[in-house]
Amino acid sequence: MSATTATERVVIFDTTLRDGEQSPGISLDVGEKLEIADQLARLGVDYIEAGFPIASQGDFDAVHAIAKSVRGPVICGLSRTAHKDIDRCWEAIEPAEKRRIHTFIATSPTHMEHKLRMSPEQVLAEAISAVSRAREYTDDVEFSPEDASRSDFDFMCDVLQAAVDNGAGTLNIPDTVGFAVPDEWAERIRAIRERVSGDYVISTHCHNDLGLAVANSLAAVTAGARQVECTVNGIGERAGNAAMEEIVMAIRTRSEQFPDIEVGIEISELARSSRMVSRLTGYPVQFNKAVVGRNAFSHEAGIHQHGVLNERTTYEIMDPQAVGAGESKIVLGKHSGRAAFKDTLHKMGIEIQGDALNAAFTRFKELADRKIQLTDADLEALVAEELGGPIHHEYELVSLDVRGGTVNTPAADLVLQVAGQRVEVSATGDGMVDASCTAIKQATGVDGRLTDYSVMSVTGGVDALADVTLSFESSDGVKVSGRGLSTDVVEASARAFVAALNKIARVRASGEDPNAVDRPGHLG
Ligand code: KIV
Ligand code: ZN
Repeated sequence: MSATTATERVVIFDTTLRDGEQSPGISLDVGEKLEIADQLARLGVDYIEAGFPIASQGDFDAVHAIAKSVRGPVICGLSRTAHKDIDRCWEAIEPAEKRRIHTFIATSPTHMEHKLRMSPEQVLAEAISAVSRAREYTDDVEFSPEDASRSDFDFMCDVLQAAVDNGAGTLNIPDTVGFAVPDEWAERIRAIRERVSGDYVISTHCHNDLGLAVANSLAAVTAGARQVECTVNGIGERAGNAAMEEIVMAIRTRSEQFPDIEVGIEISELARSSRMVSRLTGYPVQFNKAVVGRNAFSHEAGIHQHGVLNERTTYEIMDPQAVGAGESKIVLGKHSGRAAFKDTLHKMGIEIQGDALNAAFTRFKELADRKIQLTDADLEALVAEELGGPIHHEYELVSLDVRGGTVNTPAADLVLQVAGQRVEVSATGDGMVDASCTAIKQATGVDGRLTDYSVMSVTGGVDALADVTLSFESSDGVKVSGRGLSTDVVEASARAFVAALNKIARVRASGEDPNAVDRPGHLG
């Protein structure tokens, strides 16, 4: 007979729109917050902390708009302990289908003395009064003793006990200044659980000042926390909050370390959420960021590339497709090996063997040693030298003239060489890049959709080179990527698109099964 153990859910409480928005320089308008909130709902978070309604009219409006339209997650608003804060918070979240009030007051000596200028007795009274007021509005009340990691344990527990006794159902323990280390944090969570009696969920809210926010959050889960407060991409005050994607993937990937724990997140939406938050906040995602960084599934070293080409799991503990990050990338650079070089050429529709391959590989290594950015064109040129003739290009960009702005419909006039014939087309689009791509599709007759598009600046400054990489899937299912460099973003995009369509033409000319050709290769 085998005993069955119940699975416990770790509630994901997303605070991207509240603590995340408190990052220096981030200011989201109502429309942007709604867009992110809709995505958080698709991602399946349990709670959205939508803002701090008393903080400003804009914050109130955003929380109110989210409460009115976003369905699925519980909508939460933050408030200090003053009744006017709590009343305003309730007003903002009232239209939501499910609502929570989160109220907080600091319990550490330094905050009580220098910030609140209150005695511990006053802080205790404030906590009781705030929780009681919030409970007049809703059964779902969360209380946080701010700066818990630097608070006197006994006093903090007295405040927590009073919060539970007056109706708080969630006790959130914040490491407000990112001061804790994992073992100590786990111990504190366990000790609170033992000391504070009653029916409540224990939550953790960790900041990243020492780079330990995710580690501390996971330690808290191990110690019994069943709610984790976190943000997409780990954005937040100073060094940020715990990154949601890292917490979720750690619990999923190392499930044996978190027995009988589940998180209800739709992980295939993680990468999209990360991109959206980065785009709307203007905060870039660091290249080597776990789970969602552009290099998280890229391999440059020859030994790693060889391993991944044979079997992805040799160097990947997560499946990039499962988190919506596309496919593993083989990045050609000076550390790459022959297998990756040959594979990348194959995926560009270029077959090369024997001595020609050896010679091209030697030339590639020389070039990669000197040049950081290797483009498809660089590769084609060196292979062409070894093969004694140019690589066939079905399409060549002759000229591109674009118009845009805030008044006229964006338009592009394109001249393309198609199989040696000059083709001229004009097209309009949502923007100049869209107009150019539409013109290229018309000129080549290749239809399909862009599945990925990214622009990077190769150097800083306004004269920086734009480096565009895109992925395209033709309507008959051939998937290719293309890359283009130019000082002009629209031209770089057009070059990347033409490069991608040239690969389709080569693949078709080689008679290969288009669906067998998938192109993770990104030359960099
Ligand atoms: O970091 C913190 O203490 C907070 C509280 C409001 C929970 O963000
Ligand atoms: Zn915080």
